[in-house]
Amino acid sequence: MSAQRSIRDAAASAGKLPADVTTFVGRKNELAEAKRLLSNARLVTLTGFGGVGKTRLALRLAQESRRAFPGGVRLVSLAALAEPELVTSAVAEALGVRDQSARPPMEALIEHLQDRRLLLVLDNCEHLVDAVGVLIGTLLRAAPNLKVIATSRAHLNVHGEHVFVVPPLSVPDEDTLESGRAVLTEFEAIRLLVDRAAAAGYPVSDDNLHDLARLCRRLDGIPLAIELAAVRLKTLSAQEILRRLSDRFRLLTGGDPRVVPSYHQTLRATVDWSYALCSHAEHTLWARLSVFAGSFDVDAAEAVCAGGGFVADDVLDLLASLTEQSILTVDRSRSPARYTLVDTLREYGQERLDELGDTTRMWQRHRVYYENLVVDASTTWYSSKEIELLTLLKADLPNIRALMDRCLNEPGAEVSAITVAIALTRVRFWFFHGTIGEGRMWLRRSHDQISAGHLELRRVALACAAWLALCQGEHRDADTIRGAYRELGPGVENGFAEAVVCFAEGIRRWLVDAHPDAVALQLQARDRFLRLGAHGDAYMADLFATMAAGFLTDRDTALPASEDLLKKAEASGGIWSISWAWWAAGFARLRFGNRQRATRMLRDALSQQQAIGDQWGPVWSVEALAWAAAAMGEFEYAAWLFGAADQMRKLTGAVMSGLRTFAEQRAEAERLVRSALTPQQYSAAYRQGSLLTWDEALNLALHRQVPDPRRAAPRSTSSAGATLSRRETEIAKLIAEGLSNPDIASKLVISARTVEKHVSNILTKIGLNNRQQVAAWVATPGNFPATGTT
Ligand SMILES: Nc1ncnc2c1ncn2[C@@H]1O[C@H](COP(=O)(O)OP(=O)(O)OP(=O)(O)O)[C@@H](O)[C@H]1O
Ligand SMILES: [Mg+2]
Repeated sequence: MSAQRSIRDAAASAGKLPADVTTFVGRKNELAEAKRLLSNARLVTLTGFGGVGKTRLALRLAQESRRAFPGGVRLVSLAALAEPELVTSAVAEALGVRDQSARPPMEALIEHLQDRRLLLVLDNCEHLVDAVGVLIGTLLRAAPNLKVIATSRAHLNVHGEHVFVVPPLSVPDEDTLESGRAVLTEFEAIRLLVDRAAAAGYPVSDDNLHDLARLCRRLDGIPLAIELAAVRLKTLSAQEILRRLSDRFRLLTGGDPRVVPSYHQTLRATVDWSYALCSHAEHTLWARLSVFAGSFDVDAAEAVCAGGGFVADDVLDLLASLTEQSILTVDRSRSPARYTLVDTLREYGQERLDELGDTTRMWQRHRVYYENLVVDASTTWYSSKEIELLTLLKADLPNIRALMDRCLNEPGAEVSAITVAIALTRVRFWFFHGTIGEGRMWLRRSHDQISAGHLELRRVALACAAWLALCQGEHRDADTIRGAYRELGPGVENGFAEAVVCFAEGIRRWLVDAHPDAVALQLQARDRFLRLGAHGDAYMADLFATMAAGFLTDRDTALPASEDLLKKAEASGGIWSISWAWWAAGFARLRFGNRQRATRMLRDALSQQQAIGDQWGPVWSVEALAWAAAAMGEFEYAAWLFGAADQMRKLTGAVMSGLRTFAEQRAEAERLVRSALTPQQYSAAYRQGSLLTWDEALNLALHRQVPDPRRAAPRSTSSAGATLSRRETEIAKLIAEGLSNPDIASKLVISARTVEKHVSNILTKIGLNNRQQVAAWVATPGNFPATGTT
């Protein structure tokens, strides 16, 4: 991660532009024209038929324009996304806005984009035109420096959209076909074919160059058609390919030389030809692979697609040969390697599968495979396979989403959807990857859809949803959900639902009521889970019991419990589990034991979380390290860490005020720090912390390393305004004008709750306690930057 990016930009590798895997050819004129459009417009849509090169052109355009966008360039590929309601979350995910709060993802997105000069590339929007149109319209209005490049086979119909129709690559006309090498290789289509011919080991000479040129012309310069034909140069000469393809085109035109096939027909004929050259087993596999959404690995392909023509052992060879024929692409940098069907060819595969009448059976196999995968993970994650499983589920999320979505639209299949949504929660997938809001959405959708008679499943889903809401600090939502599961009455005696309900009740008792009997409730839940053989769930109950004991009980309860938990976690071998056990042990030491030791333990937790790329735990480790620093009298360091932790938490969206036990701990530590520092010292240190990148914040918390000497010296308060977002600046000014929160809400047309959040952010950011101080601060010359106050 670049050291220049702030914590708010901490989106690991999500949304980055991919490196070219094959040579990019030509498009000089198109790039110049598209750049011109982009410099004048805020939305440029590259349209054109499938395979013409929209995606490649968009990526190149973004790459070459990136200097104009200091806020970064982000790619969101929508090809595998079926549900319009997930478009906003997909964009948020690619931008690293992992908002865990229940507020709409759009609000978090707007806040993130509002002040940034960022370029967003939305690839393959055609199947989601309406949802994407609404999203882009809203974002462009809210974020004045945002620009968007979209690729879509159809226009998006958004106000201000500039459409650029991507033409095929240039080809010579009939008269130019016989020209010399220098002339011919000026044509982009020929350059592409020559490049791919060389890759196929086909010697290009002055003699066969004319055949290649003719072939390009025959293929109308369509890049995908050229890629597919080039593959055949391994076994056929250009002339032979030309002859075979010509036969196919004659079929298209009914033998009438005056009829010119459309680009679509040309591509279709080339794809038909590629298909015809595949073996029977390759046909079957190509068709069957079209059930995958996004990428898949060999295990999934074997399990879902084998049978009726080839066995699982043949799948690997067949995948290799489809890859060689440019029908599949493979990403070997991942382990296991992941394969993807080229978009247009996936649609072709779907048609073939429909013709074979095999679609329903394949969806069924796809469902069974992924349902088993997720359910198995939910019962086996508590082991050394924990991170491997979480990573695999992440890679398969498009497949898993497709499964849930399909099941929710297919009468009788809702049980699978709810089972998968529950299993993903049990595996703590939403926490690890920072998408709790999505988890709640699937639980809610599947609960609402399932027939009322499935009482046990409904209880489990509701209790899981309450768990997620509580961890977001959204206890009002959690109470509504709680009301719903209570209405269902008691669960089956000693059943799983009863255990999860007890677990959810325990979390509420801890985080909302701050009552020590939370510990007993969690221990009860743990024992119930253990009796059912649910070891991972039992560990979670144990972890929450231990954390609650640290916050709410005494030394004699908290310290031994944390030692015990640590032993259990270490025996399991799961790093995520161990990291939280260190956290719980560190926190118990902080309250009741040696603070130096507590700090070491919390740092152990943090370094493990860092190693596994956890998106949730580090927020709480940096926070607890700030409490430890405050307790040890390292006030300025603590204020830096507060700044860093708040910024990190903002990225995840958790609401501190809804997490009572944590909020109280924070308030106490903050009181200590504020009483030892002047308001200026506090706000300067806090601000420095909030400016750190994610990695810098971790380094500061782990090694007390202050990153950049330019930032190390606390700045004067006069630049404090720079840390307020545009919206916060606007609200600070309205506070200074004496407006109340409801007045501000109606003036800015936002909810009162949103205003409250902004006000609380303003107070923490500038290190003040009340609105009068904000008014005084706004009035102090130099505190506001000249710009950004609109
Ligand atoms: N300028 C280019 N240089 C090299 N290869 C290209 C170029 N343009 C397209 N290709 C290749 O042609 C194929 C199709 O291109 P691309 O995926 O960009 O098409 P598309 O218009 O986005 O199709 P779809 O509508 O199916 O998404 C890809 O294999 C791509 O790598
Ligand atoms: Mg595309």
